[in-house]
Amino acid sequence: MDSRIIIANWKMNGSAEMVANIVPAIVGFKVPGVRSVLCPPAIFLRSVAEMIGSAEVFLGGQNCSTEKSGAFTGEISPEMLGNVGCRYVIIGHSERRQCYFETNGVVGKKFVNAMEAGLIPICCVGETGEERSKGLTREVINGQIDSLFTALGESTSKVNLEFLIAYEPVWAIGTGESASPDLASETHIMIRDRVAQHNAVVAETIKILYGGSVNEKNAGSFFEKGEIGGALIGGASLKPHSFNEIRKLAAGA
Ligand code: 13P
Repeated sequence: MDSRIIIANWKMNGSAEMVANIVPAIVGFKVPGVRSVLCPPAIFLRSVAEMIGSAEVFLGGQNCSTEKSGAFTGEISPEMLGNVGCRYVIIGHSERRQCYFETNGVVGKKFVNAMEAGLIPICCVGETGEERSKGLTREVINGQIDSLFTALGESTSKVNLEFLIAYEPVWAIGTGESASPDLASETHIMIRDRVAQHNAVVAETIKILYGGSVNEKNAGSFFEKGEIGGALIGGASLKPHSFNEIRKLAAGA
């Protein structure tokens, strides 16, 4: 089994003090064979980068601009994220889609912009509870995936097509009600099939992660599924003990 990827999305949580407490506890806990990524709020990226040093933990942004530079007050370009040591950037998180009205088109632009800057996008997809109950899950997720490839097709640049997809059902985020491992696995297979319709080579190798109320108690059951290449963790990533236990489970399964 290829190594799993465990990503901490701190969202808009934390403080300088919290960074000083949490990061050493994660960096000092070595889990060979698992790729760990920390995505703190942008304001803390530089200090987290300094604390990570040469440890086998990677840094990611939680968002980036659709643009490269210019008069876009408050925005952060993917190149700037690279400047402070990021290898990854989360794009299309459902909180950005819902609270900041990011459309599939906007997410597609961010996707291409991130790869042009040499970052690895972590592309979030997932349906709301209402969409699931109306039987729209496949349609919604296919649309989210298609928009990434549409944006690529519209771009004239040649990029290194390295990215991750995180399946995060919106109804499972921050609710304590995770998807079942079976449901997550079935949806991952559906996602891989859709990617294959666009690019068979990418579909063979791309890692698809699950996110939504993952914690140290349920993580192992997700990692038993070969289709689940890792996890994107919100709440539990703010607790070093929980996050490290999840990393350990990812290594052992
Ligand atoms: P929770 O783990 O808090 O449910 O958040 C998941 C998430 O949104 C990670 O991006």
